[in-house]
Amino acid sequence: MTIVAGNLVWGVGRKTIVRDVSLSVRRGETLGLIGPNGSGKSSLLRLLAGLKRPRSGRVEINGRDIAGVSRRTMARQVAFVQQNAATDTNVSVRDVVRLGRTPHRSALGGWSTADEAAVSAALSRVDMHQRRAQAWQTLSGGERQRVHIARALAQAPTVMFLDEPTNHLDIHHQIEILRMVRDLDLTSIVALHDLNLAAMFCDRIVVMQEGALVECGAPADVLSQALLKNVFRIEAEVELAGSGRPHIRFCSD
Ligand SMILES: Nc1ncnc2c1ncn2[C@@H]1O[C@H](COP(=O)(O)OP(=O)(O)O)[C@@H](O)[C@H]1O
Ligand SMILES: [Mg+2]
Repeated sequence: MTIVAGNLVWGVGRKTIVRDVSLSVRRGETLGLIGPNGSGKSSLLRLLAGLKRPRSGRVEINGRDIAGVSRRTMARQVAFVQQNAATDTNVSVRDVVRLGRTPHRSALGGWSTADEAAVSAALSRVDMHQRRAQAWQTLSGGERQRVHIARALAQAPTVMFLDEPTNHLDIHHQIEILRMVRDLDLTSIVALHDLNLAAMFCDRIVVMQEGALVECGAPADVLSQALLKNVFRIEAEVELAGSGRPHIRFCSD
């Protein structure tokens, strides 16, 4: 599943929020999206996933302009894990994950064994299978996040968009989730705050600044000292780890 965005522009009123962004995402790759707060990461993700219509420009998934694809067809291919997603409170963990099957079910069809298997596998994947009967409102923030990811997995997408999926997670689960996303057999585009985690788990990184794409490439090519200073306004040293991936050491003075 390849995604190609050409000259995407989006804004609200007179404000332009996404400025002429073009990029292509390769089949199976994990693409990281980084940038300061308000740089347009969430807006760009929503445009790429077809949740917002651009003012101009286009998004193609597998060569097809998504403007002409129905929501249901999109939902069979594309899953989106929102930042701070809300869920109705009076439901179990399993109920939330079952919602992921909605785009695959017909109006008359019942709940199938394939649906059940997808839900079960998704719960196991995020280590929540044993908690499937637990009430949603009793989960911690990190557990909720994992369940939202399970819902996206149950959708059996070929492309997954994740908006800061590691928020609220302890470091073990941050690494666990990103390792899982990297190893999934699908294309993923993930907005991340933690630059070292982005460097560790992404094949390529896109850097956003004030709505524009300012860099795109392998972590070692993108995460330079100059970029960290210019875009993130921080002093830092960048070391290349044995893996060939950069590691950023922030300076405290
Ligand atoms: N629906 C909207 N109406 C007005 N301003 C918006 C809207 N959505 C986003 N913005 C503004 O656009 C900018 C980029 O937002 P966002 O895409 O959420 O950035 P990021 O995810 O990088 O923090 C911010 O200044 C935000 O306030
Ligand atoms: Mg955001």
